[in-house]
Amino acid sequence: MRAVLLLFRFLSTMVAITISIGLCNGNLGVPCKESERQALLLFQKDLKDPSNRLSSWVGEGVCCNWTGVVCDDLTGHVRELHLKKPDSQQDLHLSYGDFYVTSTWLGGKINPSLLSLKYLNYLDLSYNNFQGTQIPCFLGSLKSLRYLNLSEASFEGIIPPQLGNLSNLQYLGLRGYKLKVENLQWVSGLSHLKKLDMSRANLSKASDWLQVPNMLPSLVELHMAGCQLDHIPPLPLINFTSLAILDLSENTFDSLMPRWVFSLRNLVSLSLKGCGFQGSFSSHPQNNSSLKELDLSLHNLCELMDLDLSFNNFNGNVSEIFNSLSVCGPDKLKSLSLGSNNFSGHLAEHVGNFKNLSHLDLSANSISGPIPVSLGNLSVLIELLIYDNQFNGTLPESISQLKMLTVLDISYNSLEGVVSEVHFTYLTKLKDFVGKGNSLALNTSRGWLPPFQLNRLWLDYWHLGHKFPMWLQTQKQLKLLSLPNTGISDTIPAWFPNISSQLVALNLSHNQLHGEIKNIVAGFQSAIDLSSNQFNGSLPFVSPSVSALDLSNSSFSGSLFHFFCDRMDEPKNLSSLRLGDNLLTGDIPNCLMNWKRLVMLNLKSNNLSGNIPSSIGYLKRLSSLQLHNNQLSGELPLSMQNCTDLLVVDLGENMFVGSPLTWIGKSLSILKVLNIRSNNLQGDIPHELCYLKSLQILDLAQNNLSGTIPRCFHNFSAMATFPNSSILTFADYLMDNVILFTKGRGAEYGRKLLKLVKSMDLSDNMIYGEIPEELTSLVGLQSLNLSKNLLAGRIPSNIGDMKWLESMDFSMNQFSGEIPPSTASLTFLSHLNLSYNNLTGQIPKSTQLQSFDESCFIGNELCGAPLDKNCSANGVIPPPAVEQHRGYHLLEDGWFYLSLGLGFMFGFWGVLGSFMLNMPWSIAFSRFLNSMVVKLYGVIVDYI
Ligand SMILES: *[C@@H]1O[C@H](CO)[C@@H](O)[C@H](O)[C@H]1NC(C)=O
Ligand SMILES: *[C@@H]1O[C@H](CO)[C@@H](O)[C@H](O)[C@H]1NC(C)=O
Ligand SMILES: *[C@@H]1O[C@H](CO)[C@@H](O)[C@H](O)[C@H]1NC(C)=O
Ligand SMILES: *[C@@H]1O[C@H](CO)[C@@H](O)[C@H](O)[C@H]1NC(C)=O
Ligand SMILES: *[C@@H]1O[C@H](CO)[C@@H](O)[C@H](O)[C@H]1NC(C)=O
Repeated sequence: MRAVLLLFRFLSTMVAITISIGLCNGNLGVPCKESERQALLLFQKDLKDPSNRLSSWVGEGVCCNWTGVVCDDLTGHVRELHLKKPDSQQDLHLSYGDFYVTSTWLGGKINPSLLSLKYLNYLDLSYNNFQGTQIPCFLGSLKSLRYLNLSEASFEGIIPPQLGNLSNLQYLGLRGYKLKVENLQWVSGLSHLKKLDMSRANLSKASDWLQVPNMLPSLVELHMAGCQLDHIPPLPLINFTSLAILDLSENTFDSLMPRWVFSLRNLVSLSLKGCGFQGSFSSHPQNNSSLKELDLSLHNLCELMDLDLSFNNFNGNVSEIFNSLSVCGPDKLKSLSLGSNNFSGHLAEHVGNFKNLSHLDLSANSISGPIPVSLGNLSVLIELLIYDNQFNGTLPESISQLKMLTVLDISYNSLEGVVSEVHFTYLTKLKDFVGKGNSLALNTSRGWLPPFQLNRLWLDYWHLGHKFPMWLQTQKQLKLLSLPNTGISDTIPAWFPNISSQLVALNLSHNQLHGEIKNIVAGFQSAIDLSSNQFNGSLPFVSPSVSALDLSNSSFSGSLFHFFCDRMDEPKNLSSLRLGDNLLTGDIPNCLMNWKRLVMLNLKSNNLSGNIPSSIGYLKRLSSLQLHNNQLSGELPLSMQNCTDLLVVDLGENMFVGSPLTWIGKSLSILKVLNIRSNNLQGDIPHELCYLKSLQILDLAQNNLSGTIPRCFHNFSAMATFPNSSILTFADYLMDNVILFTKGRGAEYGRKLLKLVKSMDLSDNMIYGEIPEELTSLVGLQSLNLSKNLLAGRIPSNIGDMKWLESMDFSMNQFSGEIPPSTASLTFLSHLNLSYNNLTGQIPKSTQLQSFDESCFIGNELCGAPLDKNCSANGVIPPPAVEQHRGYHLLEDGWFYLSLGLGFMFGFWGVLGSFMLNMPWSIAFSRFLNSMVVKLYGVIVDYI
C-alpha cells in the first residue's frame, strides 16, 4: 500500500515538473548552436541519470526545448541549465533513508564540454548525487556565470579556489557537509557576489572567514549555518554595509557575541540559533563607552523582519527586547525566536503592536506574569510558542482573535482557570494545540462544534470533567491525542474508533475510564497508552497496525489466549506490550511465534501460572522481559537462549526452579538487569555468570542458591564504574521499568534512573565461604546485600573503596573479626546492617557510622558508639577522621527521575528507529528533539 502511494506521489511530482519545464521554455523556434548541442550531449553522456530525466536530450538541430535548457531568445546560445533534483526538499536537512524516492538524481562526471557554453550564466546542479566526487576546478573558467548552485549534491572534499575567478557571479551555493574550505582568500575574487550559501560545509580550518580584505563588497546574503566555525572576529574586515540576510546558526562559537552583528543596519533576517553566545540585552540606546562587555542592543536593526536568537545563553528582560525592536516601529518584524535562552521578566502589553508577527517563539525561558491580552491583536500570527516558562494567570480570551493561528504551545507554565469555547471562536486554522503542564480546565457545552480540525492535541493534566469530551467526535484529522490525567470517568464512546483509526499516538492513561473494550483500532505504527484506568472484562482485540500498547494497571481479567493466539494469520506490528498490574490468569500461551517484532513484553503483577512457553525463542528482538510477581513455575525454556538482545530480564517473585544461570551467562551477553529474586533456583552460582560484563543490577535474593561468590565477579565491569552521564541513548528506551529492592524495600525504577543504578542482592540463599577481595573492585555499586547467607571470614579490609555504597547489608551471616576501618569512608551510606554476625572490636568512628541505629550492629561482640557498650581503654586505635561530604543521594532521588519519563516516545521507534539510534537525549535538547520527532512523524504521516 505504502509503495503504491509513494509511486503515486513520485509520478505526480514528475507530471508537475514536466508541465512546469514545458511552460518555461518559450523559445522553441530558435535553432540551437551545433557546437553547444554537441557540448550538451557530451555533458549528458558522462552523467548518470537513473530516472531518465534527460530523455528529451535528443534530436538534430534542437536543444533549446530540452529539459532544463534555456537559450537566449535572440541568439539561440545556451544561457541557463536548470538541473536541480526535481523532488528535493530543501527544508529537510535530515535524511529519511527509504522514506523518500531518491532515484531522480543526476550523478556521474561533469564533462569539461560545459566550457563550450560560452554564454552560460546560470548553472544549477543542486540536490543531485555526485557520489563523493570533487567539485571540478574547470567550473572556475565558466566566466559568464552569474548563478552557480552546487548545494547538497554530494560533492566532497576541498572547494576549488578556482571558483574565485568567477568575477561575474552573483549567487554561489555550496551547501554540503562533506565540503571543506582551508582558507577563503579566493572569495575576494567574487566582487559581484550578492548571495553566498556555504551552510554545513566544514570551515573549521578557515580562520580567516571574515578577515580577507576587500572580500565580497556587494554581499547581501550570507548563509554559514553549521559550518563548524568556532571563532567570530570582534570586527570583520569585510564591508557588510549591504548585508540583509545573515545566518550563522548552529556554529558553536567560543567567543563573545560580537556587537558588530547588531549594528548591521540593513539586516532583514538574522539567525544566530544554537551559537552558544552569551550576552545581556538592554532596551535603551547607550553610547558605546557605557556598555558593559556583555551588553547588547537591538535598536539599530530597523529593517529586521526575521530574528532568531534561540538556543543561546542570552539573558535580559523580554519586554526590553520588544522595546528595542519597536524603536524603528514595530510593524516590520515577522518572525521572532527567543526560545531556549535565559530571558526573564514579564511580557508587556505592547507586544500587541507587532502587528505583522507571524511566528513568535519565547519557549524555554524564565518569562513570568500574565499572557498579555494584546496578543489577540497579532492578527497574522501563525505560530505561538511560549512553553516552558512561568506565565501565570488565565489564558486570555483574546487569543480567540488569532484567525491565522496554526500552532499554539502554552505547555509547562503556571496557567490556571477555565478555558471555554470562547477562547477558540475564530481559531479555524488551529492544527496543533499543546496545553499540558498547566492547571487549566476545559469547559464546553455538550454540543460544541469547534471551528478547527486539529492534527495534534495535548491536554495532559487538564480538568476535562467526568464525561468523555464529545466534541472530539468532530475532529476528523487527529493524528495525536494526549489526554492523560484529565479526570475523565466514563466509558469510551462508541464513536471513538472513527477518530482513533487514524491516530498514530493516543494517551488516555491515568483517568477513571471503565467498562469493556472489544477492539482497539488505530493507525499504522501507532502508540496507544490506556494504562492506569479501570477497564474490566477480557483483553481487547488489537488491530495489527498498533506498534506500542500499554493496558497496564487496570482490571482486565481472563486469559491471554485470545489476545495472543487468535487471528494468527495477520502479521503483527506490536513492538511494545505492557499488560502488567491487571487480573489476568492462566498460562502465557505458546503463540508467541507471530509476535516476532516484540521488543518489550511486560506482564508483571498478574495471576499468570504455568511455564514460560518455548515459543519465546521466536522473539529475537526482545529487549525487555518483565514477568515479576506472578505464579509462573517450571524451568526457564532453553529456547530463551535465542533472545540474545535481552537487556532486562525480571522474573522476580515467581516459582521458577532449576539452575538457568549458566546459559543465561553464556547467551544473554548484553544483559543489564537480571532479577530472579524470590524463586526456587538451585545450584551453585556458576562462573559463566561473569560473562555478563554489562550487568548493572543482579538480584538473586531469596532462592536456594549455594556455593561461593565467584571471584570472577570483578568481571562485571559496568558495576566497576560510575556513569558520568545520565544522557539516554536509544537503547535505554528499550528498557522497561524494573522492580528494585534496596534498603529493605522494593520500588519501581524507570529507565532514566536504571541507567545510573548499580546494585547486587544475593541475600537469603545458602551461599558460603568468604567475600572474595575482588568484589570490592565493583566500586560503582550503590547497594550490596549479602544478608541471610552462610558467609564467614573477615569483611574485606578495602570495603571502603566502594565509595558509592548507599546501602550495605551483611546481616545474619557468620562474619568475624573487626569492621574494617575503611568503612568509615563510605560517606554516602544511609542504610547499614551488620547485625547477627560474629564481629568484634570497636565500631570505626565517622559521623556516618555513629548515626545508625544500634539495631544495625546488635548480635555481635562490638563496642563503641552507637552501642552503649564502651570499648576498654586498651582498645583499638580510632581510625583517622574522614572528610565528610554528602552528595546527592541517588537512590533517594528515584521519584525525580521517574517523573521525567518521556511518555509514549516508544511508538516512534518503529518508524524512526534507525534515525534515533544512538542519538543522545540530553535534558536540554530532549524537548527540542521531541518536537523535531513529532514534526518528522507528522511529515511521514502526512506522506503516507
Ligand atoms: C523539441 O523540438 C523538436 C523540433 O521542434 C521536436 O521534435 C521535439 O519533440 C521537441 N522536444 C520536446 C521535449 O518538446
Ligand atoms: C562599504 O560599502 C558601502 C556601500 O555598500 C560604502 O558606502 C562604504 O563606504 C563602504 N565602507 C568601507 C569602509 O569601505
Ligand atoms: C503571578 O506570579 C507573580 C509572582 O511571580 C505573583 O506576584 C502574581 O500574583 C501571580 N499572578 C497570578 C494571577 O497568580
Ligand atoms: C532458535 O533459533 C534457531 C536458529 O535461528 C532456530 O532454528 C530455532 O527454531 C529457534 N528456536 C525457537 C524456539 O524459536
Ligand atoms: C566467633 O569468632 C571467634 C574468634 O573471633 C571464634 O573463636 C568463634 O568460633 C566464632 N564463632 C562462630 C559462631 O563463628
